[in-house]
Amino acid sequence: MADAFLDAVERRRTYYSLSDASPISDARIQSLVERATQHAPSAYNVQSARVVLLLGERHKQAWRTVAESYASTVPPSNSGTQQQEQREADEQARQARRQRTEKFGSETYGSVVFLENREDIEAQYVQSPDFKESKAFDVWSENATGMLQFAVWTALEAEGLGASLQHHVSTYPAVGRALTEHLALPSSWQCTAMMPFGTPAGPPGRPGKEKPFKPIRDRVIIFK
Ligand SMILES: Cc1cc2nc3c(=O)[nH]c(=O)nc-3n(C[C@H](O)[C@H](O)[C@H](O)COP(=O)(O)O)c2cc1C
Repeated sequence: MADAFLDAVERRRTYYSLSDASPISDARIQSLVERATQHAPSAYNVQSARVVLLLGERHKQAWRTVAESYASTVPPSNSGTQQQEQREADEQARQARRQRTEKFGSETYGSVVFLENREDIEAQYVQSPDFKESKAFDVWSENATGMLQFAVWTALEAEGLGASLQHHVSTYPAVGRALTEHLALPSSWQCTAMMPFGTPAGPPGRPGKEKPFKPIRDRVIIFK
């Protein structure tokens, strides 16, 4: 039983090379996402996770919004001697970011957006104000969203889909807000990550690069 679970854990990989197709129905994808969300653990069972499943044109539109907002985060450079040169270089950098990011929508089938409802987290601090100093509920919220992401990622892979985990929406909070506004979600829902997925069109990972592993003996120790 544990081996079947760990086989699925081992098979989950990062796929960048994907196609805009799915081997399973949208209803099946929805059911996987709902089941993972229902049963993934959370500190004090706060259930602060919120999830948006994006499919079809809504998925592609959402990534265009993310790409546009992400492109605008390129800081103006000071390197060129001519202002005109600088402006052109900045626009090129923005365009490169926009194109790279849009591909997560145009070359994939759908996305799962992971969010945390800040209202649920803040309510925990009202109940337990002594946890404020360590920001414990914020840390646990990050842990919990990661556990849910992992459950969804592994479930998608087990059904023949490939996925990657992308953090434009949390690396730059303004990008996350652009997405939640675009989707008309409550303002207390804070994006933690996006998971674009589709049918694998190539091997996992970066082209030509094997996934390296550190020796397990350096990472797991046992005392008895
Ligand atoms: C917390 C976390 C954040 C990550 N953020 C990104 C990301 O923003 N973009 C990306 O392409 N991959 C991201 N990854 C994927 C890792 O780079 C990837 O899991 C790692 O290199 C191991 O490869 P594997 O997923 O194929 O096993 C993230 C993974 C984790 C666990």
